[in-house]
Amino acid sequence: MNITVSAPGKLMIFGEHAVVYDRPCLVTAVDQRMRATVELTDDNAFHLDAPEVNVSGYKRPMTELGTGDIPKGAKFVEIAVKNFIEKYPFSSGIQIVTASDFSSLFGFGSSSASTVCVLKALSELTGKILDNKALFDLAYKTVLDVQGKGSGFDVAAAIYGGTLYFVTGGNIIEPLQVDTMPLVIGYTGVKADTVTLMTAVAEKMKAQPERVGRIYDAIAKLTEEAKTKLLEGDWERVGRLMDFNQDYLRDVGVSSEILEALISAAKSAGAFGAKLSGAGGGDCMISVTPDHSRPNVEAAIEAAGGQVIHIAANAPGVRVETDDQNELFVVVDENDHVVGHKTRQECNHNPALIHRAVELLIFDSHGRVLLQKRSMTKDTRPGFWSTSVGGHVGKDESYETAMRRELQEELGIQIPIVYVSKQIVHFTEETEMEALFTATYDGPFHTNPQEMDEVKFFDKREIVFGLATNKLQLTEAALQNLKTMGVLS
Ligand code: MEV
Repeated sequence: MNITVSAPGKLMIFGEHAVVYDRPCLVTAVDQRMRATVELTDDNAFHLDAPEVNVSGYKRPMTELGTGDIPKGAKFVEIAVKNFIEKYPFSSGIQIVTASDFSSLFGFGSSSASTVCVLKALSELTGKILDNKALFDLAYKTVLDVQGKGSGFDVAAAIYGGTLYFVTGGNIIEPLQVDTMPLVIGYTGVKADTVTLMTAVAEKMKAQPERVGRIYDAIAKLTEEAKTKLLEGDWERVGRLMDFNQDYLRDVGVSSEILEALISAAKSAGAFGAKLSGAGGGDCMISVTPDHSRPNVEAAIEAAGGQVIHIAANAPGVRVETDDQNELFVVVDENDHVVGHKTRQECNHNPALIHRAVELLIFDSHGRVLLQKRSMTKDTRPGFWSTSVGGHVGKDESYETAMRRELQEELGIQIPIVYVSKQIVHFTEETEMEALFTATYDGPFHTNPQEMDEVKFFDKREIVFGLATNKLQLTEAALQNLKTMGVLS
C-alpha cells in the first residue's frame, strides 16, 4: 500500500534572520506543493527518486541510513527517515518518490516541505499518528541535523499552512486569520544558499553583537506591528513596514544588487512597499501592491530582470492526498490525437504532457451561470471560484463520458450536456486539452463537500463587479470559459 502526502512551500513575509535569534517572524504557506508518495517494502532498503533535485534510483540498506556520503538532494529525506525510525522503530524497507509544483531554485522551502511529507507519510503508514507539534519537532530536528541552524519557520508553514506568527524553534506557532494578501513576487534568477547567508550573519553577530542585536530588536518590533496590520488588512502600512524591514536587512548585509533593482522597480511602479523574502542574496522579493498597480508592478519587475511568480498565500498545510496519483490520464498531441497514457502525478508536473480535461458551465433559466467555490483543502487555487464542474479525462473515457462522470461526482446530477469547443490551456506545471460543455438547469444540486465549499448562480453584473472589486477570485479556466461563452468580454 502506498500513500501520497503533500505540503505547501512558504514565503517569508517579515522577520527573516532575526527569527534565527529568538525573535518572531510572519510566514505564509503558498499554493505550490511538494508531494511524496511513500510505500513500505520488504527488501529492507531505502529507495528514493526525487527528480526535482536530480536524484534517481538512489538506494541503500536501512541499517546505513545517515552514514557516509549522501547526495545533496537526498539528505533531508534520508535523515528524516532515520530520525523517524530512531524514535518509532519499524522493520521494513521504504520506497519514496517525490515531486514538486515549484522549482527548488525559488527558495520556497522544498527541502523542509519534503521532510514534512515523508514524516507525515511514515506516521500514517506505521500507525504512529503524530500531532502537528510532534511532527514539527521531528522535522525541525531533521533540518538542524542536516544544516546545523535554522529557525524552523519553513517546517511550521509546511505543517500548519495558512499564515503564521512564529518564534524560533516553534516556541510560538500562532495561526493568523489573514485575508488574501495582495502580493506580487519577483524571482531574481539567482539561487541563494541559506546556510552560507546564515553563517555570514552569525559572524557579523559575533563581531558586533550589540549593533546586530539592536537591528534584530527593531525587526522584531516592526514584525509585531505588521502582525496587527496584516490582520486589519491595512496593506499600505504593511508595505511601509516592508520598506523598514528591507532597510534593516540591507544593514545586515543580505540584500543584493538584483534584489534592490527589483524592489525599487516594484516601488516606482506603484507598490506600497517591498523587501527581499527569505535568506537574501538572491531568491525572491515580495511587494504589497494595490490591485490597480499590479500590471505595472509586474511589468516593472520583469523589465528590471526578474521573473514574476504567480502564487497565492494562505495555502492549506500538510495533508494526505485522496486523489489517486497513479490514475491514468489520456495524453494527446496538439491536434488532440492520443499518444499514450500517463499518471496523474506525471501529467500534473510536466507541461510537455498535454492531457485531456473537461469543463462545464451550467446556466439557469434566467441566464445566470453556476460557479463552484473550490474547497479550502484543494491543492491548487483553494477558495477560488471555478466553472460549474471540471475534471480530467481518464484512460478509456471519452470527453463526454468524463464530463458526465464529473457531473455526477461533483453535483450529484445527470442532465443533458452540449459540447461547445476545445482548446489547449497552459498552466505553469501542466498543459491541458480542455473540452468545454454547457447545460441549462435550475437545480437542485447534491454537492460533494470534499470537492467544493459551495455552488452559486451568478449574473453577469455580479461577476464583473466581483472581479473589479477583487471580491471574486476566479480560476484561469473559469475566466477563459466565461469569455468563450460571452459572459465576460
Ligand atoms: C531563510 O529563508 C530564512 C532565515 O531566517 C533562516 C531561518 O529562519 O531558518 C534566514
